[in-house]
Amino acid sequence: MQLQIERRGERPLYLQVVEQIQERIRSGALPSGSRLPPIRQLANELGLTRLTIHNAYAELQADGWIESFVGRGSFVAERPGAKGQMRPSPVLPPVPLLQPGALGEIMRLAQQPHMISFAQAAAAPETFPMHEFGRVVQQVLSESGAELYDYGLTQGDPQLRQQLSLYLLDRGLQIAPEQLLVVGGAQQGIDIVLRALVSPGDTVLVEGPTYLGMVERMQMQGLKLVAVPMDEQGIRPDALETAIALHQPRLLYTIPTFHNPTGISMSAARQETLLDIAGRHALPILEDDIYGPLAYDGPAPLPLKVHDTQGLVTYLTSFSKMLMPGLRLGVIASASPLLDALVAVKRFSDMHSPQLTQRALAEYLARGHFAGHLRSVRAFYRERRDAMIASLQRHFPSDATCTVPAGGFCCWVALPPGLRSPDLYLTAIERGVAFAPGQMFFPEQPAQDYMRLSFAAHAPEEIERGIATLGELLHEQIVRRHRLRAPSFYDTVPMV
Ligand SMILES: Cc1ncc(COP(=O)(O)O)c(C=O)c1O
Repeated sequence: MQLQIERRGERPLYLQVVEQIQERIRSGALPSGSRLPPIRQLANELGLTRLTIHNAYAELQADGWIESFVGRGSFVAERPGAKGQMRPSPVLPPVPLLQPGALGEIMRLAQQPHMISFAQAAAAPETFPMHEFGRVVQQVLSESGAELYDYGLTQGDPQLRQQLSLYLLDRGLQIAPEQLLVVGGAQQGIDIVLRALVSPGDTVLVEGPTYLGMVERMQMQGLKLVAVPMDEQGIRPDALETAIALHQPRLLYTIPTFHNPTGISMSAARQETLLDIAGRHALPILEDDIYGPLAYDGPAPLPLKVHDTQGLVTYLTSFSKMLMPGLRLGVIASASPLLDALVAVKRFSDMHSPQLTQRALAEYLARGHFAGHLRSVRAFYRERRDAMIASLQRHFPSDATCTVPAGGFCCWVALPPGLRSPDLYLTAIERGVAFAPGQMFFPEQPAQDYMRLSFAAHAPEEIERGIATLGELLHEQIVRRHRLRAPSFYDTVPMV
């Protein structure tokens, strides 16, 4: 297919492909039912990467211009463009878009129909307590007056903060409602803390690897992100000391419990050491406890904040993994004067989180539904975690190693030397399976390559099918590289 690609222009390459294919469909040059060239072929013809063509096709599919079928290819839809009437804006705003646009790309590709996606660490919709929550919403609507529709407090609905303070007691934290700030999910919590505490050019320390949304958020604000290596107990104290001495960071961001992406939890001893080091250097810490209560093999480890006697730790959690991400509700626990600064940033950002959802969550928690919900989702995800570990054991090469997470959503697989997850990524997508390539979780290219596999969103049978496909791909790559080896998957020690 002859397309004119302007490589030096401002317009993203994939959008140029999208627009020109749309143009051909509109003009009738590509009639309904006609087959688009295979991704690899078009990429070769145009001298673009497969990822670019993948993204173009995914965009066309999302907007209803084409239909793609695993194994068969992509075809112009019967009523092309029915879903997407909006033309893309001809002038793109000068946003410093994320380097490889990793999060957006993972989401876009992984959400294609029929994809078995281990790419996103997302809660399973089957677990959403929609009926109970719906009843609670009805009640809130019928019992509330105009205050529900009026501006509310930036810090958050008082009833919700009361309930959150009680909930945090179960995490071992005694925090008064006055010390809480309700936020629009953990992502907004991270954003607010970064805006309050750091300026462009400042350094923030994170675990290496860390949450992808943090990596991308930092890139956007021009912040320097330094990854501190981990071991099986969490962030390494010696490496932390060195990083502090070298970089004079303004903040340490950590996910101590059921870390994303590795699944590792920081031991209590390591937490104490970390706090000791941070205390000596007056280094503030942002603790992200989004997966904390999702423990599958025993009680959840206590948060870092529990051991914080010096007021170093700003604690953050959200209901996106434990309950429903669409609620967009989370909470920050902090003390003045930092809390006041965080409230001010929240006010600039969106005044406050929506009254209706805040009040509904308050009522849901007050009715005591949440403890039962957590019990049932723990059992639900434990089964999926076990299924993924068993499938990995059956299908992955013997010299791949994997963490066995005691909670959270992620398995972290270290690939055998010589295998590269970006190479596998698009081939896996073409075979209907998505995963998150490990490099995305590091600010800089790691020495070894990894895959993050989230088990939360698929039933055990789909997990088995998806892992079998990935296993086949890995074996094919190994054969191609003449690197066949033998011992068992479990012979290896869990790694970072
Ligand atoms: C560690 C971590 N923090 C924050 C977030 C963002 O969560 P939310 O949906 O509450 O904004 C995620 C989502 O995947 C996450 O894994």
